[in-house]
Amino acid sequence: MTELVRFGISTEKNLLAKFDSLMKVRGYTNRSKAFSDLVRGELVKKEWTESKDIAGAITMIYDHHKRELVNKLMDIQHDFSKVIMSTQHIHLDHDNCLEIVAIKGSAEKAHKLEGALRAVKGVKHATLSMSSTGKGI
Ligand code: NI
Repeated sequence: MTELVRFGISTEKNLLAKFDSLMKVRGYTNRSKAFSDLVRGELVKKEWTESKDIAGAITMIYDHHKRELVNKLMDIQHDFSKVIMSTQHIHLDHDNCLEIVAIKGSAEKAHKLEGALRAVKGVKHATLSMSSTGKGI
């Protein structure tokens, strides 16, 4: 287990009040966890700008009736099979599908994959959730 250390921070009273308020809205019950998560959030952002291994997910919505679209999405996913860990497909309703593509690998490939999927005609929405392998944070 990682050793814990205590330290003091000097900051503006106003800023601390805003931090406490934000903490409550986000469900935190103590400043230590909220602060640690803020720092980890910054470290994850940094991982995505460097050539480190990242993990995350691409979520997209599309209409499966467009047959060419489904084939195209499949071709792209095969081209990126080294970064795709798993794909989950959920039939939202008669027309719309939700697909979650779990990824692990280089940030550059993750962005390329997201861009390729998003650009396919008929994909209504795609978003990239940028997370971490957890090793560096
Ligand atoms: Ni479906």
